[in-house]
Amino acid sequence: MTRRLDGKVALISGGASGIGEGQARLFSSEGARVVIADMQSAKAAAVIGEIETAGGEASFVELDVRDEIQWQKAVDFTEERYGHLNILCNNAGTNVRVGFDDLTIEQYRNIIEVNLNGAYLGCRIAGPALERGGGGAILNIGSLASTKHGGSTGYTVSKTGIIALTKNVALGYASQGTRCNAISPGHVDTPFIRGDNPHSRNDWSTSLENPENYERRLAGTPLGRLQTPQDIAFAALFLCSDEAAMITGSVLNVDGGAALT
Ligand SMILES: NC(=O)c1ccc[n+]([C@@H]2O[C@H](COP(=O)([O-])OP(=O)(O)OC[C@H]3O[C@@H](n4cnc5c(N)ncnc54)[C@H](O)[C@@H]3O)[C@@H](O)[C@H]2O)c1
Repeated sequence: MTRRLDGKVALISGGASGIGEGQARLFSSEGARVVIADMQSAKAAAVIGEIETAGGEASFVELDVRDEIQWQKAVDFTEERYGHLNILCNNAGTNVRVGFDDLTIEQYRNIIEVNLNGAYLGCRIAGPALERGGGGAILNIGSLASTKHGGSTGYTVSKTGIIALTKNVALGYASQGTRCNAISPGHVDTPFIRGDNPHSRNDWSTSLENPENYERRLAGTPLGRLQTPQDIAFAALFLCSDEAAMITGSVLNVDGGAALT
């Protein structure tokens, strides 16, 4: 353990599962106090229990990233509980895996609301708190869909928008000492692509449980394995630490080379 986040406080949307959960665990082990902001309270409680057993400090706040009032409450809760906010990670995401003709307008709107507008609200509403904390770090999550524009329309539009959002926020907050970067993961073995949850439905035709899907994703990954949440968390740790003090507006692919294929 290197204690690279000693004294920092991190607010992590989507922190109850997958990539956000990986950040919560690693950031805590590196000395940060962590607030998991999510809609899945039971899963968050289990993660917090394990973080506390390992000697860390973590809390839960109910958050639907589509709701700006809940965002304000999450930021207020963090400052009241821990005194300041230094890191915001926008992980919350949703997808509907159907083609252009089958995606309803309502589904399209919801994907944009969660993946893109939810991240925007987080950046906007946490901004003053990050400035009060002395200037902080924001991390957004893109995707292969940020640069490969096939597949689910709402998803690729939202994840392409995340890159523009990241650069806008980086410019907007630079004078306050707050940085904003993005990670574009490849195929990460999480409930998002393996399980069947309301925010990310999968059946046999799409789930990693189906060996054909697993092999297809593996074949598209030159480094020869799918990513784990920890792979993404290590990059997140760097970008959110003071070691990255001169990095803002950047997009880091953590995808085993998948974007190259
Ligand atoms: N798993 C992958 O292969 C992969 C690849 C590229 C990008 N991503 C992105 O990574 C991010 C995290 O995905 P994951 O793989 O960890 O998925 P996951 O399903 O394991 O976790 C997503 C979390 O987001 C939460 N969430 C969903 N909608 C929410 C909302 N409206 N408000 C608050 N929380 C909400 C869920 O409750 C869940 O805890 C997403 O933005 C996803 O698009 C995932």
